[in-house]
Amino acid sequence: MPFILETIVATKNTDGSFHVRPYGLHRDGDDWIFLPFRPSPAIENLARHPFLVVSAPSDVRVIAGFLTGRGDWPTVPADRVDGVRLADTTGHMELEAVSFEDHEQRPRFRCRVVHQVAHRPFLGFNRAQAAVLEAAILSTRLGMLPAEKVDSEITYLRIAIEKCAGPEELEAWSWLMQRIEDYRNAQ
Ligand SMILES: Cc1cc2nc3c(=O)[nH]c(=O)nc-3n(C[C@H](O)[C@H](O)[C@H](O)COP(=O)(O)O)c2cc1C
Repeated sequence: MPFILETIVATKNTDGSFHVRPYGLHRDGDDWIFLPFRPSPAIENLARHPFLVVSAPSDVRVIAGFLTGRGDWPTVPADRVDGVRLADTTGHMELEAVSFEDHEQRPRFRCRVVHQVAHRPFLGFNRAQAAVLEAAILSTRLGMLPAEKVDSEITYLRIAIEKCAGPEELEAWSWLMQRIEDYRNAQ
């Protein structure tokens, strides 16, 4: 089974701005495999400018925010490549896409680490942050999963939110619950 790092990836758009979204990176030895689903601007961006910057957000609202139209999280220039990282990150990696394997649904970019930095000490796990991450992933799969499965997973994840969340996790959770409700209302 792959080790998958759930993180925030930035690639460079044609107009010089950056496309920044949550993605999972699959570890393969010292390399990372990036697998965006088609269609995604990240695919064309990497074909043109094969560098991506990967940030671990300190605040899980970033993950929920990018999925719910709240994408204005501050970024700063990367250290070695032409790219950006989150300003508020526990650590970031700068990667070069060194090969591309095309696929009609999910092309693969093999990425090599150019540079990586820890910005803060890792102080431990928080269950509510993990619950927000899981709910964020669920919220991107509403069209693929039965509603009962989504409901039962949310019921379980809510336990960690009620026991362990701070204000940021509560806010992120509320954005994701709204996204799920909006999706269902639109059905
Ligand atoms: C934690 C997490 C991991 C994700 N991993 C991926 C991924 O590996 N590939 C992908 O295409 N989308 C992934 N998504 C969903 C994308 O973030 C979401 O569909 C986003 O809108 C994609 O933007 P794009 O269509 O511009 O690529 C993930 C979402 C979350 C919350």
